[in-house]
Parts: sequence; structure tokens; C-alpha cells
Amino acid sequence: MRIERCVCKKRLFSQLKLKAAAERLSLEQLCEATGAGRECGKCLPYLCRMMRTGQVVFCEIVAEADELYDPTLRCEQIHAAKVI
Ligand code: FES
Repeated sequence: MRIERCVCKKRLFSQLKLKAAAERLSLEQLCEATGAGRECGKCLPYLCRMMRTGQVVFCEIVAEADELYDPTLRCEQIHAAKVI
């Protein structure tokens, strides 16, 4: 299993991370700008982890209980070029 995108908006997490880093967006601002996380919401825990760690490809299920939603999370610049 490989999870690497917001299925509803057809946006790769790697693309979303680059946008968040380049525009210094918070998670809330990223979701607002792209629509990611705004439909079914299943990608939100992945987006939270992405913003926190820089990870953009997941081989395990990340549930809401694993990554609490924090709209103020920002993708640190150090993660911008790192693709995991
Ligand atoms: S998978 Fe991202 S909103 Fe549905």
C-alpha cells in the first residue's frame, strides 16, 4: 500500500508540501488554497504528519488518533526539498 495524495483533489502530498513551504502556509491555509482535506477529510491526518515531519509517502494507515489536527502547523523550510 502506498498513500501519497489527496484522492478527492488529486493532489500529491509532495506537491502540497512544496506549495506550503514556498508560500509559508499553515495547514489551514494550505487546505483552503487547494481544497485538500476539505471533502472526505481522510487525508487530513497525512497532511498533519506531512507538515510536522516532511513525510509525503506513507506505507501505513495514519488515523486521526495518530495525528491530531492542528490548523496552525507549518511546513518547516528544512522539509521542503526532502521527499520521503
Ligand atoms: S482524500 Fe483528501 S479530502 Fe478526501
